[in-house]
Amino acid sequence: MAQSSPVPAASDGGLCEEFAVPSQVEEVRRLMAEFAERHDAGGRRVVLITSGGTKVPLESRTVRFLDNFSSGRRGASSAEYFLDSGYAVIYLHRHRSLYPYTRLYTGVNLLDSLRLEPGEGEGGSGRVLVDQAELQNVAAVLKRYQAVKTAGLLLPVEFNTLSEYLHLLKAAAQALNSIGSNAMFYLAAAVSDFYIPASEMPEHKIQSSNGPLQISMKMVPKMLKPLVKDWAPQAFVISFKLETDPSILLERARRALDIYNHQVVVANVLDTLRGYVVIVTKTTQHELTLTDDDVQKGIEIEEKIVSNLSAAHTEFMNR
Ligand code: PMT
Repeated sequence: MAQSSPVPAASDGGLCEEFAVPSQVEEVRRLMAEFAERHDAGGRRVVLITSGGTKVPLESRTVRFLDNFSSGRRGASSAEYFLDSGYAVIYLHRHRSLYPYTRLYTGVNLLDSLRLEPGEGEGGSGRVLVDQAELQNVAAVLKRYQAVKTAGLLLPVEFNTLSEYLHLLKAAAQALNSIGSNAMFYLAAAVSDFYIPASEMPEHKIQSSNGPLQISMKMVPKMLKPLVKDWAPQAFVISFKLETDPSILLERARRALDIYNHQVVVANVLDTLRGYVVIVTKTTQHELTLTDDDVQKGIEIEEKIVSNLSAAHTEFMNR
């Protein structure tokens, strides 16, 4: 994403003092607000999906950085199911992480999936044919993708660094505030909990000739708190919780609900994240599992998550 402007003077709960504001944030906020209001006026709900991991630089002229685990698959596939369910989607995703629809062809080498139509000249007839075996169901997927594009139902917004993620999420929350409970936040991104403040960061590449590296990192402010309390207090907010130890998962999910006071935590464990999640609210917990039969039919866990959450969103709006 684009260059960053210097840190502004205004106080902002620590966010602006510590993290440089991306230069395009105002323009993106305007686009998101216009998108949300247009779809809200047309009777459509709007979901903001965050997807992918964040990148935290260790040097100002960055050679090395700390990354977070996330391919973006959960966010990208969920976006498709939300679109199928009638939502308009703002897709706040890490640059080059998985993207709705094209994610289905991530493992395909584009040139291996194309053929030149035979003909007289060196390049055949000049027409290029698609190998249907390589790009499975591509016509049907293209039709869905183009329908979404033509109707203007998907607004992609990219981030790269932690700073960009934090400012764009805040801008998104403020942009969606005007549509109240019609907005859903689906925070599937894996966000760094630690960062090095700009004032403490070495400018140049850290030299290995100086010996073993010791770094001290600060805690990143949790965005959920101001999002729920101040920026979009009427919205339906879902956070995710990833753990590697299943024995602490539910306790951590409930703790997040107590601290941030939002509506739902989707809890998952690294080893089983593609086939098992628990939807946790303050009063309920509901397991979603992918059976062998589901897998054979090509059903994904995100279809079940989205179906569960869009029903919960309806209930929330009616309350
Ligand atoms: O992308 P995939 O490969 O498909 O993987 C999907 C996933 C495992 C990344 C996803 O399902 C998931 O669990 N994402 C959340 C990971 C996590 O535990 O994040 P966290 O503990 O850093 O944050 C918890 C919640 O607080 C998240 O919803 C996050 O968006 C939010 N958060 C985090 C940091 C921060 N500064 N502010 C926040 O609001």
